[in-house]
Amino acid sequence: MISVKNNRLFIGEVAASGLARRFGTPLYAYDEEAIRSKVSALVQNIAYRPLRIFYAAKANTNLSVLKIIRDEGGQSIGIDAVSPGEIEIALKAGFKPEQVIFTSTSVTDDEMKFAISRKVLVNCDSLSQLERYGRLSPGSKVCFRVNPDVGAGHHGHVITGGPESKFGILAGDVGKAFAIASKYGLKIVGIHQHIGSGILETGKFLTAMKVLLSIIEKNKSGLGDLEFVDFGGGIGVPYRPGQKPINFAKFGAAVSKLFETFCSSFGKKLSLTIEPGRFIVAESGALLCTVNTIKQTPKHKFVGVDTGFHHLIRPMAYGSYHPIVVVDNCGNGGKKEKVAVCGNVCESGDVFTRDEHGIVDRSLPIIKEGDVLAILVAGAYGFSMSSNYNTRPRPAEVLVSGSDVRVIRKREDLAHVIYGM
Ligand code: LLP
Repeated sequence: MISVKNNRLFIGEVAASGLARRFGTPLYAYDEEAIRSKVSALVQNIAYRPLRIFYAAKANTNLSVLKIIRDEGGQSIGIDAVSPGEIEIALKAGFKPEQVIFTSTSVTDDEMKFAISRKVLVNCDSLSQLERYGRLSPGSKVCFRVNPDVGAGHHGHVITGGPESKFGILAGDVGKAFAIASKYGLKIVGIHQHIGSGILETGKFLTAMKVLLSIIEKNKSGLGDLEFVDFGGGIGVPYRPGQKPINFAKFGAAVSKLFETFCSSFGKKLSLTIEPGRFIVAESGALLCTVNTIKQTPKHKFVGVDTGFHHLIRPMAYGSYHPIVVVDNCGNGGKKEKVAVCGNVCESGDVFTRDEHGIVDRSLPIIKEGDVLAILVAGAYGFSMSSNYNTRPRPAEVLVSGSDVRVIRKREDLAHVIYGM
């Protein structure tokens, strides 16, 4: 777990400042136990069986992280993959083809051929994709994604249901999907939706579940081969002070009850699938960085660090809040001042303490150059969205397991950035 002991930040049993000294910064550090505890919370709190938790690998595709998730999840675990790369890495992590679903958008025939060659179920995002899939693999099993016309999420960019969304087949077009499936002898074994990401209000998730279930009920006659319903991911985690985590016991019970009731009226015990990404990995990760430069302007005291939005783009992309602490002075006591923590990318938007509209100063202990900071709740959509912008190498990733630490991805060097090797 990531915790504060005696005013210092610990990842597992290891002081964050020690990790920074040993491996250098910027550095992504993940705690193994934190990942495991999230997987087991899902498995234990959702009583319905058969249950399939298909981790949305896009949140964090590190091979070692995937292996931990597989190991902890046992029978119930699988992978939601959005690209041939994610299919391949899931198989390399030891997931079996039937534990992987390929849910992508704007898919090419070659990508579908790749999934077919790996024996992975394809989840079609449009009528056109379903038609092309039917031609490529007649008589096979298929799933398709419905846009339930309900959306939710922490920012407009991540709401995937409703009229503004490019995703899924409209509920009114489900009949057309059946016609295509029957033309190619496809067996529709799954129906899928994903309404958005970062949902802390579980009511919205449950409402969307009901909407999808009523679409299925209405179209029951075409769904004789149905084996599972996939309600997507989106389960949020708290980032800001004051945000409350989901009451998982209550949520898990509500999800199970809803699906159990549906299956009895549907007349078949279907598998319940969800695709959490962030929920499993976000809180396990911290991005450690070192303060290089402190600069006072008439408006802000800028604290410049050796990372930026090329390594963690969420504040820049969505105005997302990430907690920031000084790793060796992160208690509540002591003198504080308001600062803007900014990165080393040559763009003014490269500020970690910001919202959608611009800089929001943050009250932090007095910081000096050379201090190590940790940007927290960075295990999801951190490294996986990183880039080499400004021709800068990506950070190393380390995994902490109790008091053990191992490098799970080497720091890139300049040769890698320049020559791609
Ligand atoms: N299933 C599907 C089909 C998805 O598209 C996604 C996320 C998930 C599951 C997992 O969602 P999660 O449980 O992690 O919320 N980069 C953004 C998030 C984009 C999510 C895209 N799709 C962020 O940093 O907030």
